[in-house]
Amino acid sequence: MIAATPFAGGGVALAAAASWAVSTTLVKGAIVRFGPRAFNVFRCSVALVLFWATSLAVEGTSALGAVATSDGRELLLSGAIGLALGDLFLFVSVRRLGAQPAIAFNQLSPVWSALLGWMLGAEELAPVEYLGIAVVIGGVLLIIFGRAPAGSSDQDELHPRSERASGVAAGLLSSLCNAAAGMMTRHAIGGVGELAGSTLRMTGGAAGVLLVSVCLGSLRADARPLRALPSLRKELLAVFLATFLGILMQQAAYARLEASVALCLLSTTPVFLLPLAVGILRERYLPRAWLGTLLATAGIPLLLSKGGDATMAAPTNARDPHSFARPSEASVKHLDLDLAVDFGKRELSGRASLELVAASGAKALVLDTRDLVIERVTTSRSCPAPNAHVPDTAAEFELGEAATNPIELGRPLKVELVAALARGDRWVNVEYRTSPIAAALQWLAPEQTAGGRLPLLFTQSQAILARTWIPCQDTPAVRMTYSARVRVAPTPGTAGRPLLALMSAENPQRRVENGLYEFRMPQPIPSYLMALAVGDLEFRPLGPRTGVYAEPSVAAQAAYEFADLEKMVAAAESLYGPYRWGRYDVLVLPPSFPFGGMENPRLTFATPTILAGDRSLVSLVAHELAHSWSGNLVTNATWNDFWLNEGFTVYFEHRIMQKVFGTEFDDALAVLGLQDLERSMRELNDAGQPADTCLKLKLDGRNPDDGVTEVAYEKGARFLQVVEAAVGRERFDAFLRRWFDGNAFQSRTTEEFLAFLRQELGIERPNLERDVEIDAWVYQPGLPGNSPRVTSSALQKAEREVARFVAGASAADLDANSFTTQQWQCFVRGLPNDLTMERMAELDAAFDLSRRGNSEILFAWLVRCVERRFEPAFPALERFLTSQGRRKFLKPLYQELHKSEWGKELARRIYEKARPGYHAVSRDTIDDVLKWGK
Ligand code: BES
Ligand code: ZN
Repeated sequence: MIAATPFAGGGVALAAAASWAVSTTLVKGAIVRFGPRAFNVFRCSVALVLFWATSLAVEGTSALGAVATSDGRELLLSGAIGLALGDLFLFVSVRRLGAQPAIAFNQLSPVWSALLGWMLGAEELAPVEYLGIAVVIGGVLLIIFGRAPAGSSDQDELHPRSERASGVAAGLLSSLCNAAAGMMTRHAIGGVGELAGSTLRMTGGAAGVLLVSVCLGSLRADARPLRALPSLRKELLAVFLATFLGILMQQAAYARLEASVALCLLSTTPVFLLPLAVGILRERYLPRAWLGTLLATAGIPLLLSKGGDATMAAPTNARDPHSFARPSEASVKHLDLDLAVDFGKRELSGRASLELVAASGAKALVLDTRDLVIERVTTSRSCPAPNAHVPDTAAEFELGEAATNPIELGRPLKVELVAALARGDRWVNVEYRTSPIAAALQWLAPEQTAGGRLPLLFTQSQAILARTWIPCQDTPAVRMTYSARVRVAPTPGTAGRPLLALMSAENPQRRVENGLYEFRMPQPIPSYLMALAVGDLEFRPLGPRTGVYAEPSVAAQAAYEFADLEKMVAAAESLYGPYRWGRYDVLVLPPSFPFGGMENPRLTFATPTILAGDRSLVSLVAHELAHSWSGNLVTNATWNDFWLNEGFTVYFEHRIMQKVFGTEFDDALAVLGLQDLERSMRELNDAGQPADTCLKLKLDGRNPDDGVTEVAYEKGARFLQVVEAAVGRERFDAFLRRWFDGNAFQSRTTEEFLAFLRQELGIERPNLERDVEIDAWVYQPGLPGNSPRVTSSALQKAEREVARFVAGASAADLDANSFTTQQWQCFVRGLPNDLTMERMAELDAAFDLSRRGNSEILFAWLVRCVERRFEPAFPALERFLTSQGRRKFLKPLYQELHKSEWGKELARRIYEKARPGYHAVSRDTIDDVLKWGK
């Protein structure tokens, strides 16, 4: 299926070219009779009616809806540029140069698009494809110039020199328009179906053509063929063939091929025209034309020779190696969930109804699932609302083989669509339940919560775990809005008070008696941002649109810690534009939450380990808040583009921190971040994975978790800092804002970002490429030489105290009592590797390091204790590893322990006890570190 795509694309492209050849022979007379412009008006008007009639019949009003998206608008514009402006230039060129040379110039479109694609980084053609383009164009040109002169006088002689120059210019412009339109179509087609896409292009084209006639004051004259409509039967057939079917096929080709390859195949019309012109129109051609036919035909296989390679550098619909979904065939635009939460069985059960946008000819909807029990699948015309009876029809479905090797991708759920779509059904309803081992879900027993009396459930969907609790297209390239009803049964011990349910959506602020909660997420989000939490939670407002949810015993502490939340939202907005999600709340979860934070829209999930009591760890909230722009608004299209989420977010996080807490504080965070990055790069190199130090990742066949390293975060942020330094902060901020605004609610690839960067900043800064070293930053391992230097006077002070201690000063004499959290981190990290047990003990006694409540300081200290085998700290180590499950803290400690025999033994003893309390995300990581169960 995948491998066949370029071949199928090649087939439709050639069929489109052939349809244009046939129609050319059919309409030649009419063009001569009415003139090219009038014929164009005729052709576009008729096709416009055909397209809209078909679209409305097949897809209802969804084509209209597509106009509202940025992809839709791009298609309208591409129609206007390609079909109206491009043709206008072509007519001018034909008039001034004659048909042959004008058409020959027009063959340059694939050259333009290959050139532009290469310059903008939008295409990655193989050498054989460049060769194919050259051979095909060469062949086609031979055909064009192989036509024997019609009469004795050579047409070219009739055109004066001055006309020829403008004719050449018009020919060049026409081919440029054609190329630009092709590239735009290629870019936007993933987001809009092929039929809707063609309809939009035709609409743009027809509007443009009519506008030209109006501007030239020739509308009445140009409408002549329309008045003669009934007599133009042959021409109507030609329009149906070439303009309707041809454009539809052209669109299908763009969806499957690189723009240059598609353009080149589409320009083979003369190859098909030649036999028709000779056979039907009785035109004569020279032998070289036949040679051209051979040459062009030979070039076609070269263009498609990459056919076996499924990794087309496709922009928006780049295939995601971590999902079975085939969104270009049918994609989910809205999800309606109806779920019951059963703590006893550790099970969610109910229905997921998915509203589809299907491409014409779609055969199946493919969903990702993992460990789900699928009970029934039906289709219906509308969403089966809880109380209204909506007739539904059982659908055929098939649950594929489980893909577990080398990573657990789960099982594709394939739902047959042909019959359903024919009936007009647009909703697929999946009745299902989750398994008790669903990896996204952690069902906490009462004793694992702060309150200790009631159970709690939370989800973690990023990166590919949403499929373990919702059947969905689990790829960041697909976005959907959602609505949900969640039923929470009364739990023993709640004394009639049901637990509170929250989602990444509009949330309740207090519990309801009947335990039925309703949610709505009106903005389209990718599946990895689906989230649910159910527990004994209470809400505390912090500002007009900010607040915090936590277990009652933690709520006051949480409200104190996040007091600056409202200010942070305001700071973020002042940088990159309005916060588009309504409210921003934070949910503080129990300590087993495997991450520091998770940017679930409207409701960040956070670890309680950032409740330091002194607000010193709130940069984590700045980070998750920043994701409301970088990540949630503009999303990485695949996990290979993860740095687009995290690098941008770390950059943005620092900007928020600078605004709210000052540059001095932020400098300290930046220095620690750089230390993290350098350590992480060293480890990746030592592990023989230097490729993982590139920003653009290659995670095919691997767990997306492998890409979660400091590289995406810190190297990504530093790359943006380098660009900022090259163009200046003001211009860079405006640029970033345009990126967020222009790509809002879309998923984007690294290549799309780089194209935007070069286009928006490269023109004013011709040296951008050289100054920034874009390629080195994105596609090469390691840290380029222009990586920004940072220093922090606060941390330098901590380093001086380390030096004094090393030189012999006693711990008690150190000037460390007023150290900030970050100074402590720096101090502990800076201690030499060969401290004696006595000196370690001296530090511990003087500063109580093993008994710190601040998780970052304690963590930094425990790492050093394991390195030095400082046994007096091991009870603290065991407490730390068994009392929280944040992967960032667990992994380095277990890794360090795993380096020695005594450490392995200790690690295994602790892990045995701690493992049942960890979330699956952390468990999987540590299983790997300790080779647990192997
Ligand atoms: N989205 C990430 C967490 C994540 C990444 C989960 C990849 C699953 C797969 C979140 O925004 C994040 O980066 N959290 C960091 C905190 C941040 C301050 C660096 C964390 O949890 O440590
Ligand atoms: Zn993040």
